[in-house]
Amino acid sequence: MKKTLICSVALAFFCTTGLAALSMAQDKGPAEMVLKTAKAKKPALFPHAEHQARLKCGDCHHSKGADGKQAPYTEGMKIEKCETCHNKDAGMPKGLASFKDVGHKKCKGCHKKADKKLTKCGVCHKKGLK
Ligand code: HEC
Ligand code: HEC
Ligand code: HEC
Ligand code: HEC
Repeated sequence: MKKTLICSVALAFFCTTGLAALSMAQDKGPAEMVLKTAKAKKPALFPHAEHQARLKCGDCHHSKGADGKQAPYTEGMKIEKCETCHNKDAGMPKGLASFKDVGHKKCKGCHKKADKKLTKCGVCHKKGLK
């Protein structure tokens, strides 16, 4: 009995310190964001932390390989703004060449699968956002 107790205490210690080390390794970014382009015609609310709790970082974040193709997310990689790559001057294919394009493809795409009510404009483009 005593031995198992000591073991589980030790395990709990390793787990928490392990987790702390992991969370230090990767900047999680803001808990909530207002996503917008320079024109800021229709800012979108994005509860980042709420999504992080359910999803993997790589469900949304990726990078670009030397071949110009999408490279998968890896722990500790540099996370850049979507518009860094998804803009009209970066040679992106049609439908992926703006923040609106990928915002709708990624965000609305998943919302559509999860629950159609989540695709209503006002879910993300809440009134009064700046
Ligand atoms: C549902 C999609 C989604 C998931 C899941 C997600 N993120 Fe994000 N994250 C975003 C979007 C969108 C932005 C804003 C990008 C922009 O401004 O162009 C962002 C921004 C960030 C930023 C700030 C980047 C900058 O330069 O401003 C960091 C850091 C970050 N995320 C880390 C993470 C980590 C770590 C995880 C996993 C624990 C994660 N994200 C999970 C969508 C997501
Ligand atoms: C470092 C460059 C880079 C950044 C930053 C980037 N992407 Fe991409 N993304 C790419 C490349 C390259 C492709 C593949 C384009 C092609 O098909 O030719 C791609 C493809 C996509 C696709 C279509 C394929 C798929 O996975 O569904 C979506 C949607 C997408 N990106 C969304 C986003 C979002 C949202 C962000 C910000 C959170 C983001 N991207 C940030 C480079 C980037
Ligand atoms: C892989 C799936 C997925 C992706 C990608 C995703 N979401 Fe969501 N999002 C959800 C689900 C599922 C919910 C509902 C959660 C709930 O009801 O608890 C949600 C909820 C939300 C809500 C809150 C709705 C409310 O009023 O309660 C907002 C706002 C939102 N998402 C914005 C975004 C934005 C902006 C993006 C892209 C940057 C995004 N989401 C990407 C799955 C996703
Ligand atoms: C799941 C979230 C989500 C939903 C639902 C959604 N959008 Fe968006 N939308 C975004 C994101 C993310 C962007 C890119 C960031 C930004 O400009 O707000 C965007 C961008 C836009 C832009 C470009 C804004 C600019 O400043 O250039 C327009 C216009 C737009 N959306 C219209 C709509 C309309 C109309 C609907 C409903 C039919 C809708 N969106 C539904 C997330 C969403």
